[in-house]
Amino acid sequence: MTHGSLFHRQGRGERHRPVMNNELKRILCYLNEKHGLDFFGYRASMVQRRVGQRFLFTKCKNYDEYYAYLLENPDELNNLIDALTINVSRFFRNSLAFEYMADRILPAICHRKKETGDHSLRVWSAGCSMGEEAYSIAILVHEFLKEETLKLGVNIFATDIDGKILEKAQQAVFPFESMKDVKFRFLKKYFSFTENAFQLMPEIRDRVLFSVYDLLDNKSSVPSESIFGDFDMVLCRNVLIYFNTAYQDKIFDKLYRALTQHGYLVLGEAEIPSPKYERYFRRVNDCCHIYQKI
Ligand SMILES: C[S@@+](CC[C@H](N)C(=O)[O-])C[C@H]1O[C@@H](n2cnc3c(N)ncnc32)[C@H](O)[C@@H]1O
Repeated sequence: MTHGSLFHRQGRGERHRPVMNNELKRILCYLNEKHGLDFFGYRASMVQRRVGQRFLFTKCKNYDEYYAYLLENPDELNNLIDALTINVSRFFRNSLAFEYMADRILPAICHRKKETGDHSLRVWSAGCSMGEEAYSIAILVHEFLKEETLKLGVNIFATDIDGKILEKAQQAVFPFESMKDVKFRFLKKYFSFTENAFQLMPEIRDRVLFSVYDLLDNKSSVPSESIFGDFDMVLCRNVLIYFNTAYQDKIFDKLYRALTQHGYLVLGEAEIPSPKYERYFRRVNDCCHIYQKI
Protein backbone atom coordinates (compact mmCIF):
# COMPACT_ATOMS: atom_id res chain seq x y z
CA MET A 1 0.00 0.00 0.00
CA THR A 2 1.53 3.37 -0.92
CA HIS A 3 0.30 6.38 0.93
CA GLY A 4 3.34 8.61 0.73
CA SER A 5 1.87 11.06 -1.78
CA LEU A 6 -1.11 11.82 0.43
CA PHE A 7 1.00 13.13 3.26
CA HIS A 8 2.59 15.68 1.03
CA ARG A 9 -0.38 16.53 -1.17
CA GLN A 10 -2.04 18.60 1.51
CA GLY A 11 -5.18 20.53 0.70
CA ARG A 12 -6.14 24.19 1.04
CA GLY A 13 -5.53 25.44 4.56
CA GLU A 14 -3.37 22.44 5.40
CA ARG A 15 -0.09 23.77 4.10
CA HIS A 16 1.33 24.46 7.56
CA ARG A 17 -0.07 21.42 9.28
CA PRO A 18 2.37 18.80 10.62
CA VAL A 19 3.25 15.90 8.35
CA MET A 20 3.61 12.34 9.61
CA ASN A 21 7.17 11.06 9.95
CA ASN A 22 8.29 7.62 8.74
CA GLU A 23 8.22 6.06 12.22
CA LEU A 24 4.60 7.03 12.65
CA LYS A 25 3.72 5.84 9.13
CA ARG A 26 5.25 2.47 9.95
CA ILE A 27 2.88 2.09 12.90
CA LEU A 28 -0.11 2.98 10.71
CA CYS A 29 1.07 0.53 8.01
CA TYR A 30 1.16 -2.22 10.63
CA LEU A 31 -2.35 -1.30 11.78
CA ASN A 32 -3.48 -1.35 8.17
CA GLU A 33 -1.93 -4.78 7.53
CA LYS A 34 -3.39 -6.31 10.66
CA HIS A 35 -6.85 -4.78 10.71
CA GLY A 36 -7.34 -3.30 7.25
CA LEU A 37 -7.97 0.10 8.85
CA ASP A 38 -6.72 3.18 7.06
CA PHE A 39 -5.67 6.01 9.36
CA PHE A 40 -3.33 7.63 6.84
CA GLY A 41 -5.79 10.32 5.94
CA TYR A 42 -6.40 11.41 9.53
CA ARG A 43 -4.94 14.76 10.41
CA ALA A 44 -1.28 14.22 11.33
CA SER A 45 -1.52 16.31 14.52
CA MET A 46 -4.40 14.18 15.80
CA VAL A 47 -2.63 10.90 14.99
CA GLN A 48 0.60 12.11 16.62
CA ARG A 49 -1.27 13.11 19.77
CA ARG A 50 -3.22 9.86 20.02
CA VAL A 51 -0.31 7.53 19.27
CA GLY A 52 1.79 9.65 21.65
CA GLN A 53 -0.74 9.00 24.43
CA ARG A 54 -0.39 5.26 23.83
CA PHE A 55 3.40 5.26 23.84
CA LEU A 56 3.46 7.26 27.07
CA PHE A 57 0.93 4.89 28.60
CA THR A 58 2.99 1.85 27.59
CA LYS A 59 6.14 3.60 28.91
CA CYS A 60 7.82 3.66 25.50
CA LYS A 61 10.15 6.55 24.76
CA ASN A 62 9.44 7.06 21.06
CA TYR A 63 7.58 5.70 18.02
CA ASP A 64 10.26 3.08 17.32
CA GLU A 65 10.01 1.63 20.81
CA TYR A 66 6.25 1.70 20.57
CA TYR A 67 6.37 -0.15 17.24
CA ALA A 68 8.50 -2.89 18.83
CA TYR A 69 6.02 -2.97 21.73
CA LEU A 70 3.14 -3.46 19.26
CA LEU A 71 4.90 -6.41 17.63
CA GLU A 72 5.42 -8.06 21.01
CA ASN A 73 1.97 -7.24 22.39
CA PRO A 74 -0.71 -7.84 19.73
CA ASP A 75 -3.48 -6.79 22.17
CA GLU A 76 -2.10 -3.27 22.19
CA LEU A 77 -3.41 -2.82 18.64
CA ASN A 78 -6.95 -2.70 20.01
CA ASN A 79 -5.94 0.00 22.49
CA LEU A 80 -4.38 1.96 19.67
CA ILE A 81 -7.55 1.67 17.56
CA ASP A 82 -9.58 2.86 20.58
CA ALA A 83 -7.28 5.85 20.95
CA LEU A 84 -7.53 6.75 17.26
CA THR A 85 -11.31 6.41 16.92
CA ILE A 86 -12.65 9.16 19.11
CA ASN A 87 -16.05 8.04 20.31
CA VAL A 88 -17.28 11.10 22.20
CA SER A 89 -20.97 11.74 21.56
CA ARG A 90 -24.21 12.56 23.32
CA PHE A 91 -27.93 12.66 22.62
CA PHE A 92 -29.13 15.78 20.75
CA ARG A 93 -25.55 17.10 20.48
CA ASN A 94 -25.78 20.68 19.12
CA SER A 95 -29.44 20.78 19.99
CA LEU A 96 -30.23 23.59 17.56
CA ALA A 97 -29.54 21.27 14.62
CA PHE A 98 -31.95 18.70 16.04
CA GLU A 99 -34.59 21.40 16.68
CA TYR A 100 -34.21 22.44 13.06
CA MET A 101 -34.50 18.88 11.80
CA ALA A 102 -37.69 18.39 13.82
CA ASP A 103 -39.20 21.73 12.87
CA ARG A 104 -38.22 22.12 9.22
CA ILE A 105 -36.42 19.18 7.69
CA LEU A 106 -38.76 16.34 8.62
CA PRO A 107 -41.87 18.31 7.52
CA ALA A 108 -40.11 19.27 4.25
CA ILE A 109 -39.19 15.64 3.54
CA CYS A 110 -42.72 14.53 4.37
CA HIS A 111 -44.19 17.19 2.10
CA ARG A 112 -42.07 15.90 -0.77
CA LYS A 113 -43.06 12.30 -0.01
CA LYS A 114 -46.70 13.26 -0.33
CA GLU A 115 -46.00 14.84 -3.72
CA THR A 116 -43.99 11.93 -5.06
CA GLY A 117 -46.00 9.10 -3.49
CA ASP A 118 -42.85 7.58 -1.98
CA HIS A 119 -43.77 6.25 1.46
CA SER A 120 -40.38 5.43 2.94
CA LEU A 121 -38.09 7.56 5.03
CA ARG A 122 -34.41 6.59 4.97
CA VAL A 123 -31.80 8.01 7.34
CA TRP A 124 -28.10 7.18 7.79
CA SER A 125 -26.03 8.13 10.79
CA ALA A 126 -22.44 7.71 9.50
CA GLY A 127 -19.82 7.55 12.27
CA CYS A 128 -22.51 6.97 14.87
CA SER A 129 -20.32 6.06 17.85
CA MET A 130 -22.53 4.58 20.59
CA GLY A 131 -25.73 5.43 18.72
CA GLU A 132 -26.68 8.64 20.53
CA GLU A 133 -27.14 10.54 17.26
CA ALA A 134 -29.12 7.78 15.51
CA TYR A 135 -31.36 7.29 18.55
CA SER A 136 -31.91 11.06 18.83
CA ILE A 137 -33.17 11.19 15.27
CA ALA A 138 -35.25 8.04 15.90
CA ILE A 139 -36.98 9.85 18.80
CA LEU A 140 -37.67 12.89 16.61
CA VAL A 141 -39.03 10.77 13.77
CA HIS A 142 -41.21 8.84 16.21
CA GLU A 143 -42.59 12.09 17.67
CA PHE A 144 -43.10 13.57 14.22
CA LEU A 145 -44.95 10.61 12.77
CA LYS A 146 -47.38 10.49 15.69
CA GLU A 147 -48.77 13.85 14.53
CA GLU A 148 -48.57 13.09 10.82
CA THR A 149 -51.34 11.64 8.70
CA LEU A 150 -48.93 10.16 6.14
CA LYS A 151 -47.85 6.62 7.03
CA LEU A 152 -44.15 6.28 6.36
CA GLY A 153 -41.98 3.17 6.57
CA VAL A 154 -38.88 4.26 8.47
CA ASN A 155 -35.34 2.87 8.07
CA ILE A 156 -32.60 4.31 10.22
CA PHE A 157 -29.13 2.90 9.56
CA ALA A 158 -26.24 3.67 11.88
CA THR A 159 -22.67 2.72 11.08
CA ASP A 160 -19.22 3.09 12.55
CA ILE A 161 -15.76 1.72 11.87
CA ASP A 162 -15.51 0.56 15.48
CA GLY A 163 -17.31 -2.76 15.99
CA LYS A 164 -16.87 -2.69 19.77
CA ILE A 165 -18.67 0.62 20.16
CA LEU A 166 -21.54 -0.71 18.04
CA GLU A 167 -22.05 -3.62 20.43
CA LYS A 168 -22.55 -1.05 23.18
CA ALA A 169 -24.82 0.99 20.91
CA GLN A 170 -27.13 -1.98 20.47
CA GLN A 171 -27.48 -2.35 24.23
CA ALA A 172 -28.72 1.26 24.35
CA VAL A 173 -27.63 1.92 27.92
CA PHE A 174 -26.14 5.37 28.48
CA PRO A 175 -24.34 7.22 31.27
CA PHE A 176 -25.51 10.61 32.52
CA GLU A 177 -22.91 12.50 30.41
CA SER A 178 -24.66 11.30 27.23
CA MET A 179 -27.99 12.65 28.42
CA LYS A 180 -27.21 16.28 29.27
CA ASP A 181 -29.06 17.71 26.27
CA VAL A 182 -32.12 15.46 26.44
CA LYS A 183 -35.37 17.28 27.14
CA PHE A 184 -37.01 16.20 30.38
CA ARG A 185 -40.19 15.13 28.57
CA PHE A 186 -38.16 12.79 26.31
CA LEU A 187 -36.23 11.50 29.29
CA LYS A 188 -39.45 10.54 31.05
CA LYS A 189 -41.03 9.09 27.97
CA TYR A 190 -38.26 7.11 26.32
CA PHE A 191 -35.78 6.12 29.04
CA SER A 192 -35.78 4.19 32.28
CA PHE A 193 -33.15 4.80 34.93
CA THR A 194 -31.45 1.71 36.32
CA GLU A 195 -28.12 1.16 38.07
CA ASN A 196 -26.85 4.67 37.42
CA ALA A 197 -27.55 4.50 33.71
CA PHE A 198 -30.34 5.33 31.28
CA GLN A 199 -31.88 2.50 29.29
CA LEU A 200 -33.59 3.48 26.05
CA MET A 201 -37.00 1.95 25.43
CA PRO A 202 -37.15 -0.92 22.89
CA GLU A 203 -39.72 1.07 20.91
CA ILE A 204 -36.96 3.49 19.86
CA ARG A 205 -33.97 1.14 20.16
CA ASP A 206 -35.43 -1.30 17.62
CA ARG A 207 -35.89 1.40 15.02
CA VAL A 208 -32.13 1.65 14.41
CA LEU A 209 -30.08 -0.91 12.47
CA PHE A 210 -26.37 -0.85 13.36
CA SER A 211 -23.51 -2.20 11.27
CA VAL A 212 -19.76 -1.82 10.88
CA TYR A 213 -18.86 0.36 7.93
CA ASP A 214 -15.66 2.20 7.05
CA LEU A 215 -16.39 5.53 5.38
CA LEU A 216 -13.14 5.11 3.47
CA ASP A 217 -14.17 1.78 2.00
CA ASN A 218 -13.43 1.97 -1.73
CA LYS A 219 -15.50 -1.02 -2.71
CA SER A 220 -18.94 0.29 -1.82
CA SER A 221 -20.71 3.63 -1.75
CA VAL A 222 -23.19 2.77 1.02
CA PRO A 223 -23.38 0.18 3.82
CA SER A 224 -24.51 -3.15 2.37
CA GLU A 225 -27.35 -3.40 4.94
CA SER A 226 -28.99 -0.37 3.35
CA ILE A 227 -28.78 -2.14 -0.05
CA PHE A 228 -29.09 0.92 -2.28
CA GLY A 229 -28.61 4.06 -0.19
CA ASP A 230 -31.03 6.68 -1.48
CA PHE A 231 -31.12 8.39 1.90
CA ASP A 232 -33.39 11.33 2.65
CA MET A 233 -31.01 12.41 5.37
CA VAL A 234 -27.41 11.57 6.17
CA LEU A 235 -25.90 12.68 9.46
CA CYS A 236 -22.11 12.65 9.41
CA ARG A 237 -21.17 14.80 12.34
CA ASN A 238 -17.86 15.28 14.09
CA VAL A 239 -16.18 12.67 11.90
CA LEU A 240 -14.78 14.72 9.01
CA ILE A 241 -12.82 16.98 11.36
CA TYR A 242 -10.35 14.16 11.89
CA PHE A 243 -9.44 13.78 8.21
CA ASN A 244 -7.22 15.73 5.84
CA THR A 245 -8.74 17.35 2.75
CA ALA A 246 -7.99 14.49 0.36
CA TYR A 247 -9.77 12.00 2.60
CA GLN A 248 -12.62 14.42 3.34
CA ASP A 249 -13.19 14.55 -0.43
CA LYS A 250 -13.41 10.75 -0.59
CA ILE A 251 -16.02 10.81 2.16
CA PHE A 252 -18.00 13.71 0.64
CA ASP A 253 -18.13 11.81 -2.62
CA LYS A 254 -19.66 8.86 -0.78
CA LEU A 255 -22.13 10.99 1.18
CA TYR A 256 -23.20 12.84 -1.95
CA ARG A 257 -23.89 9.58 -3.80
CA ALA A 258 -25.70 8.11 -0.79
CA LEU A 259 -28.23 10.95 -0.70
CA THR A 260 -31.40 10.95 -2.70
CA GLN A 261 -32.13 13.94 -4.93
CA HIS A 262 -32.69 17.01 -2.67
CA GLY A 263 -31.66 14.92 0.36
CA TYR A 264 -30.14 16.56 3.44
CA LEU A 265 -26.61 16.27 4.79
CA VAL A 266 -26.16 17.14 8.45
CA LEU A 267 -22.60 17.98 9.51
CA GLY A 268 -21.04 18.85 12.87
CA GLU A 269 -20.74 22.45 14.07
CA ALA A 270 -17.11 22.72 12.95
CA GLU A 271 -17.63 21.07 9.56
CA ILE A 272 -18.46 22.36 6.09
CA PRO A 273 -18.39 20.66 2.67
CA SER A 274 -14.84 20.51 1.32
CA PRO A 275 -14.07 23.11 -1.41
CA LYS A 276 -14.46 20.48 -4.15
CA TYR A 277 -17.97 19.65 -2.97
CA GLU A 278 -19.39 22.98 -1.81
CA ARG A 279 -21.09 23.63 -5.15
CA TYR A 280 -23.04 20.40 -4.83
CA PHE A 281 -24.75 21.44 -1.62
CA ARG A 282 -26.89 24.40 -0.51
CA ARG A 283 -26.74 25.39 3.14
CA VAL A 284 -30.34 25.48 4.36
CA ASN A 285 -29.92 28.12 7.06
CA ASP A 286 -27.26 30.17 8.82
CA CYS A 287 -27.52 28.73 12.28
CA CYS A 288 -26.65 25.08 11.77
CA HIS A 289 -24.63 22.97 9.39
CA ILE A 290 -27.41 21.33 7.41
CA TYR A 291 -27.00 21.15 3.64
CA GLN A 292 -29.29 20.10 0.83
CA LYS A 293 -28.06 18.21 -2.19
CA ILE A 294 -28.58 20.25 -5.37
C1 LIG B 1 -16.54 11.92 17.66
S1 LIG B 1 -17.48 10.53 17.14
C2 LIG B 1 -18.92 11.32 16.47
C3 LIG B 1 -20.20 10.65 16.92
C4 LIG B 1 -21.47 11.34 16.47
N1 LIG B 1 -21.55 11.41 15.04
C5 LIG B 1 -21.56 12.73 17.05
O1 LIG B 1 -21.43 13.72 16.35
O2 LIG B 1 -21.78 12.85 18.27
C6 LIG B 1 -16.58 10.03 15.68
C7 LIG B 1 -16.93 8.61 15.25
O3 LIG B 1 -16.44 8.41 13.93
C8 LIG B 1 -15.99 7.08 13.83
N2 LIG B 1 -15.07 6.96 12.70
C9 LIG B 1 -13.79 7.38 12.61
N3 LIG B 1 -13.28 7.04 11.42
C10 LIG B 1 -14.23 6.40 10.73
C11 LIG B 1 -14.30 5.81 9.45
N4 LIG B 1 -13.26 5.80 8.62
N5 LIG B 1 -15.47 5.22 9.08
C12 LIG B 1 -16.54 5.20 9.90
N6 LIG B 1 -16.54 5.75 11.14
C13 LIG B 1 -15.39 6.34 11.55
C14 LIG B 1 -15.32 6.84 15.17
O4 LIG B 1 -15.18 5.46 15.46
C15 LIG B 1 -16.26 7.57 16.12
O5 LIG B 1 -17.23 6.72 16.68
